[in-house]
Formats: sequence, C-alpha cells, structure tokens
Amino acid sequence: MRVLVTGGAGFIGSHLCEALLAEGHSVVCVDNLLTGSLRNIAQLKNEPRFEFRQIDINEPYDVGKVDYIFNLASPASPVDYMEHGIETLKVGSLGSFHSLDLAKKYGAKYLVSSTSECYGDPLEHPQRETYWGHVNPIGPRSVYDESKRFAEAATMAYHRYHKVDTRILRIFNTYGPRLQLNDGRVISNFMKQALRGEPLTVYGDGQQTRSFCYVSDEVEGILRLSRSDIHDPVNIGNPNEFTILECAHLVLKVTGSSSSITYNPLPIDDPKQRRPDISKARTHLGWEPKIDLETGLKLSMEYFQKAIEIEDAEKAGRTHTVAV
Ligand SMILES: NC(=O)c1ccc[n+]([C@@H]2O[C@H](COP(=O)([O-])OP(=O)(O)OC[C@H]3O[C@@H](n4cnc5c(N)ncnc54)[C@H](O)[C@@H]3O)[C@@H](O)[C@H]2O)c1
Repeated sequence: MRVLVTGGAGFIGSHLCEALLAEGHSVVCVDNLLTGSLRNIAQLKNEPRFEFRQIDINEPYDVGKVDYIFNLASPASPVDYMEHGIETLKVGSLGSFHSLDLAKKYGAKYLVSSTSECYGDPLEHPQRETYWGHVNPIGPRSVYDESKRFAEAATMAYHRYHKVDTRILRIFNTYGPRLQLNDGRVISNFMKQALRGEPLTVYGDGQQTRSFCYVSDEVEGILRLSRSDIHDPVNIGNPNEFTILECAHLVLKVTGSSSSITYNPLPIDDPKQRRPDISKARTHLGWEPKIDLETGLKLSMEYFQKAIEIEDAEKAGRTHTVAV
C-alpha cells in the first residue's frame, strides 16, 4: 500500500512510519514540523519507500493517490497545545476535513488519533469507550480536548454521510524514545530532572494517577486497529495505574539518580485519574500492552541521555555530533 502518515515527524508518527515500512508499505510522511522534528525521521532519509513532505494540513493538500491515511497531526503535549492553541483547534477541525476529503477522493481507509483527553476529568473510572466524558469546553485545555472531540465527530460524519472507511483511536499517555524532552509530560519531566540530578517536580500531592503505554505497544495497537473493521472509538493504552509519586520513585530507581522530590500546586483542570478500560481492544484486536513501566523507562533512558547532551550542546552554542 501507499500510506500517508500526517504528523509523521512527531514522536508516535515517526515510530508508526518505521513500522509501516517494516511491513513493506510505501510511506508518505506529511508534517509541518510545528512540534515534530526532522531528527525523528533522519534514519529514514535513504529509504526509497519513504517520502517526506513539509505540508500544513490546516490548508487543503494533496499527495496523490494513497490507500490508507493515518491522521496523527496535532500538537499533543500540554506545553505545545497551550502555546499553539489556535493551531490545535484548526488541526482537529480544518486538518480533519482536509484529510478526510483526501480519503474520500481516493477511496482510502482512514484512521485518526484521538485521545484520552476526550474523557476530560472523568467521573467514570476506568474509562470505557462508551463514556461521553466530563470536559470543560472553555478551560485552558479545551483547545485540545474539543479539537479532538470535533475530529472524532468529523470522522464519524464522513463515515456516515460519505461512507469513508474510518477508525478512531483513543491514545492514552504514551512514552518512549523521541518523546520531546521539554514537552511538560510526566515521563519526560522526571527523566530529564533525574538524569540532570535536579529535584523531580510533583504537582499536587502526587496521588493523582496515570497510566503509561510504551510506544512499541501503542504502535502495535494502531496497526491492529487499522486492520480491523471497528468504526467506533477504541482505547489503546496501558491499564496499569501508577500514582505520580510512584512513577517518580520508579524513575529515580531506573536512572540511579539521587534527586529529591519537590511539590508544586496542581494546574487547572488537571485530571485526577486516568486509566483506560482496554476490554474492547483485548476482545476485538487481541491486543494488550507487553512492556511494563520499569522496562519501558530502561528502554528510553539512552534516548533521554542523548537528548540532554544535545540540549546542553545547543545551549552552549556548540554543534553536536550526537545522533538521537
Ligand atoms: N503522546 C501521547 O501520549 C498521546 C496521547 C494521546 C493522543 N496522542 C495523539 O497522537 C498524535 C501524535 O502525538 P505525539 O505525541 O507524537 O505528538 P508530537 O507533537 O510529537 O507529534 C505531532 C506531529 O504533528 C505535527 N503537526 C501538528 N500540526 C500539524 C499541521 N497542521 N500539519 C502538519 N503536521 C502537523 C507536528 O509537527 C508533530 O510532528 C497526536 O494526534 C496526539 O494528539 C498522543
């Protein structure tokens, strides 16, 4: 197949491009590099089946006939979507329309990456796909939450009205190599602080919970969903729940760091708990995550060390030879 991955120069998108190439497909990676980086796809530049195009999908676009569209383009971390609020709303709305129009034009299958943020600060725990969510439509996080909820609505509308063959993936917290060092997410914050020997910052009392899915598990879930005939949303994430404080201690253990832990006030609308119910993925896709948090942190450590080296070299104005 000729496959389009939007957001392919991002964290998850770049891993997905690699996995699709490994399955024998040709991949067109479209990205405007708003939050992604060419560094994430540098290893693919001599691959003849891989093509990168710098395109903003918020404008109408076309890359020729494709058989499958994986629409992953969107700022994803709180730091990024707070900084790029309008772009985030546009990519879930305009970007969705442009990508869905392409799927309609070429009769391509379509998968959109939605998010656990659709559930907001959930009143149901763990979250099943049938839960409609508890979202503040005007709060600071709404640029992301509502953008993704709109992307889901647009996807279902193209499925119902235009018979586009669509899938909706609800991704829960994913981490691993190529996660941006400064994206403000728990794992990158803790890894950076621990490896630098700085105090680990915990917001609130650290008793709020999160679940963390290693990127190879996430990509396997995406591929399985893409081959299925499920048109309703499917959660793909790791159901093993950790308090933020437990996570901090695990990072200290894995990195061997002697950093201390400091406490800051909880940000507005910060969800108290988040954990996927993955019964649907288990039953219909035969999928469940394989990598536990400690193993995933170990697998990510080398990447974070190199990313810190690069950041330090860049801050010092030195050119660097470290490849990530
Ligand atoms: N990482 C997670 O834990 C997580 C959780 C839930 C959902 N998701 C979703 O998964 C997808 C990928 O997230 P990620 O973590 O890899 O983030 P990321 O920021 O690393 O990747 C997103 C990519 O989209 C690109 N992009 C943004 N706007 C664009 C536009 N208008 N046109 C073209 N490209 C554009 C960015 O440059 C970037 O390369 C996103 O849709 C995100 O909402 C991620």
